[in-house]
Amino acid sequence: MKPRTPVARISATARYLPERVMTNADLEQMVDTSDTWIRERTGIRERRIASRDTGAAEMGTRAACAALQKAGLSARDIDLIIVSTATPDRMLPTTSCEIQAAIGASRRCFAYDLQAACTGFLYAVTMAEGQIAAGRAETVLIVSTEKMSTIIDWDDRATCILFGDGAGAAVVQPSTNGEGILSSYHRSDGNLAELITRPAGGARTPLTADRLRRREHMLQMAGPEVFKAAVRAMSKASIRALKDAGLETGDIDLLVPHQANARIIEATARYARVPMDRVFMNLDRYGNISSATIPVGLDEAREEGRIGPGSHVLMTAFGAGLTWGAMTMRM
Ligand code: COA
Repeated sequence: MKPRTPVARISATARYLPERVMTNADLEQMVDTSDTWIRERTGIRERRIASRDTGAAEMGTRAACAALQKAGLSARDIDLIIVSTATPDRMLPTTSCEIQAAIGASRRCFAYDLQAACTGFLYAVTMAEGQIAAGRAETVLIVSTEKMSTIIDWDDRATCILFGDGAGAAVVQPSTNGEGILSSYHRSDGNLAELITRPAGGARTPLTADRLRRREHMLQMAGPEVFKAAVRAMSKASIRALKDAGLETGDIDLLVPHQANARIIEATARYARVPMDRVFMNLDRYGNISSATIPVGLDEAREEGRIGPGSHVLMTAFGAGLTWGAMTMRM
């Protein structure tokens, strides 16, 4: 594919992480695990947990307001709000409409939720880019907000050690000087749907007392199978996104991958031939915040000065579905 002239760029990012820290030592008190096992097998030391009365919309609203402030925009400037979340506060209405009202965005804009699990942010950026290219929107607000602590079975040591809560936001606007999204590559495979599920609570399997007792409304995952699929998917997608952008690995200033497991990130970087000193990791502090990992990572990387104007950034993610993808951009 020929490298494209960018049509859209991420003009601002922001994040919100709840204050409460849950350490591996805390988890040792809850399930049969150890700090050593968690650190060695995942790279995670601690994660943030939102308070009982803080929902996905509130965390997303905080991140959204901070992103707008950084972009020098008011909520009334937004044409479109896309929220990616696997943990909406309610089944209806959408979290995006709740955030629209909470930030005071105008009724002139449209808002919808996008469900692509952990890949949600990258899918959302691509959807925003498409609306900008079509001339339907100039300023798009993307919010990735996840209260994973509410869908985790805190008695299941194979999953409860992995996840945390938080939100990231990004403003997407038209490109001006050749900066912006250079390539994006997305795929999904419903044949692998059973690898990560929340079986109960939907139309086919509504919640019943029995299903609640069997904890079927909680996240279930085939960890080792997901691990292998993730490495395969993210490394291939990264290589493809680089090729589509006409970039070499050496051109990449920073890889900002989905933060699920340090070993997954290391293996992906190895296959994609990105040296580890150019790979961003914060999962030691936050664990896996599903679709919020990449916007939170971008925001921290900018703040730490690891990326800035002119930097080339590669992002890659995978999640339930299975869904996956990769994207390159020039800042
Ligand atoms: N503490 C201590 N031991 C644990 C444990 C925990 N929290 N979780 C599992 N174990 C045990 C298992 O019971 C098993 O014991 P056994 O050998 O006696 O049967 C052993 O550790 C190995 O289990 P396994 O599942 O093979 O470990 P793993 O090295 O694959 O690590 C994951 C498990 C979940 C950390 C890893 O598979 C993973 O990260 N998968 C990807 C998950 C993911 O990214 N999901 C999100 C998608 S966006």
